Parts: sequence; C-alpha cells; structure tokens
Amino acid sequence: MESNKGTMSEKQSINFLRGVPAEEALSRLIPLASEGYEKVIRRYGTDVLQYGHFTGFKPLRELIGRLHRVDPERVIVGNGGLEVISLFFKSLPRNSTIIVEEASYDRALLDAMCYGHHLIGVQLTRGGVDLNQLKNVAKKNAVAAFYGIPFHQNPTGINYTEENRKEVERICREHGIPCVWDICYQALRYDGKANDSIEVSEWGPILTNSFTKTISPGTKCGYMIVPTHYVGHLSGIIANTRINPNLPTQAFIADFIESGGYDDFVKYLRNLYKPKMEALNTALHSFFPGAFPVTISGGFFAPLTLENISGDKEVSFIESAKHAGVGVAAAWNAFAPNWKEEKHKKGLFIRLTFPAFQPDRIAWGISMLKETAERLA
Ligand SMILES: Cc1ncc(COP(=O)(O)O)c(C=O)c1O
Repeated sequence: MESNKGTMSEKQSINFLRGVPAEEALSRLIPLASEGYEKVIRRYGTDVLQYGHFTGFKPLRELIGRLHRVDPERVIVGNGGLEVISLFFKSLPRNSTIIVEEASYDRALLDAMCYGHHLIGVQLTRGGVDLNQLKNVAKKNAVAAFYGIPFHQNPTGINYTEENRKEVERICREHGIPCVWDICYQALRYDGKANDSIEVSEWGPILTNSFTKTISPGTKCGYMIVPTHYVGHLSGIIANTRINPNLPTQAFIADFIESGGYDDFVKYLRNLYKPKMEALNTALHSFFPGAFPVTISGGFFAPLTLENISGDKEVSFIESAKHAGVGVAAAWNAFAPNWKEEKHKKGLFIRLTFPAFQPDRIAWGISMLKETAERLA
C-alpha cells in the first residue's frame, strides 16, 4: 500500500519552477560532450589547461565574431550568460541607473542591484517595450544602460517585433545609452519560424548570449559582444574578477560549432520542445484564457497571473498546489522595483517552465493549478 502511494504521488507531480533542459536532451549530449572534450584537450593540450585567454578561448571568440560579423576582439566569452551580464553591470559606475523591462530575468535584476544600480522598468506590450515610456525615461534620467530580452522574453514569453527592437536601439543611441540585448533564447523557437538576427555595428547594440539552454547548464558558457572602445575597461574588470574562464569547455564548444554538431543539436531541441510548448499553450488557453500576454512560440517560460489569488491567499495557494503535486512560486523578483506594487494588485504572478516535461504532464499540471485556484477563490 505504502509503495503504491509513493508511485502514485511520484507519477502525478510536476515542478514548474526551474527552467532546466530536458533530461533526454542531456542524455543525448553525453557521447557528443565526452568525445568533444577528449578531442580538444588532446588537440590544444596545455593551452586549455593553463591560465590564459582572460576574455575567452581565442578560436571560439573568432568563430563567434564570424557568426555575428564583428571583430573577434569585441567578443568576450565567459562562464555563462549571467556571468558576462554581471561583469558588464560591474563595469558600470556604482549606483548607475539602468532601464529594464517591467518584468525581466530575476537574477540579472538582483545582480544589477548588488552593484547599487537603480532599475527603472518600462512597460512591455505584446510586441516589445512601450516606446513612449522608454523615450520619457531616457530623456528624464542619466541612464547607464538598457537591458532587454528580445526573443521569447523571460518571464513573459513576448517576442519583440523587428520594428520595436530597432526603435529601442535608435532611442538608446539617440540618448547615448548602451543597448544590451540578451539573446539567449534566439535559437530556441519551436513554431517553425526563425527569429531575426540582430545586426551589430560599431556603436552596438551590445549582445549577450548563453549556451546553457542550447547545450547544457553544466558546461556553462556565455558571451558578450561590446563596442571596441569598451573592451579594455571590461577586460580589466574580468582580469580582477576571475582571471580566465573554463577553457576546455570553450574549446569543446568551438569544435561542436565548427563540426556542425551544434546546429544539429539545436534542431533536435526545437523538435523535442515543440510538442511540450503546444501542450502548454493548449492548456493555458483552455484553463486560463486572458491570464497571460501571448501564445508561447519558444524559449523556456510562460507567465501566468492568477487574478483570484490576492496577496492574503498567496501562501495557501502555493501550499495547496504543492499538496496536489504542482510546484510553483510567486515570481515577484522578476519585476522592476517601480512595477512591483501595481503588479501585486493584479493577483498572484507565477512563471511556468515546460521543456523538461512530457506534454500530458504539463496539461495535467495546469489543470491542477486551475482546480486549486477555483477552490481558493
Ligand atoms: C534571459 C536569461 N539570460 C541569461 C540566463 C543565464 O544564462 P547562464 O546559465 O548561461 O548563466 C538565463 C537563464 O535562465 C536567462 O533566462
């Protein structure tokens, strides 16, 4: 009886909290990574085992430079997307003002605040940011940077239109504000369409990217493309923070890209995640119509606002969902400080992830959230 109960509860549970890649994708990577690491350590030997390459493994920087059509000197490769974003925030004068989206990648926001930066959130629309608000904030403040996630935005799932993205770049440029685009979900589109590529010129925009979701979180590698004049300053910050990054990983990734294995792997991921995304969209549309801004077309996340769950019911909702086997949490850290209070009034805001789960489990999890929300309403 006991073991039966255990199996039942193990079967019927889902943890919507952590945006991790699917286990089957990581298993598929095992032979590719094992062979790849062995190959490059034999090929590059002590060059990847010794100190050096502060701004990243040179062959990988050259490859990324070619992919984005920029001088490889402008490419900084580090230990993950968050690391390069953090190094950039660290490189700004303390207590700078940074414009962000009203809701954004929570860890990037928390990291920026660790350096004393003051964040101003600009409203998101279904196709990007509210341009009038952006213009206003840019005009009225001395702003050190804009940080945005234009493809399959975390946490809202929004994709910027090309016009909106370009207009953001134009406004930033007009006001002398470095525009930073975090493009870590650009390649992860599952609806059969492709995202635009962002043209980088001498002034910018600055790009940050990550291989966490397209290869693996364990291999942890990301990069940033900055204007030439900024490389020296940023390199100084890097050298004083962590000396060199993980070089065997960067050599493996360079080889993985060069051999065509990376592109094949990303194609495989798109196919793997498509039915999961479709199950998520179907369930959200049927159980929570109007409670999320857009149909999800890629990335790792979807947001949900439960308008019946006010602040006083938040804890009991999360506890009841957990009891029913569904892990969720309030995602208030995803909001810029100037939006938190207003968003709290609209009901509980949660973020759901889907790539690691089977479609039927996703559908079941969302139906349980609906049931729990109705019970507490
Ligand atoms: C928008 C965004 N940027 C960066 C990262 C972090 O990338 P990394 O794991 O390479 O540090 C994430 C991870 O979820 C993310 O959602």
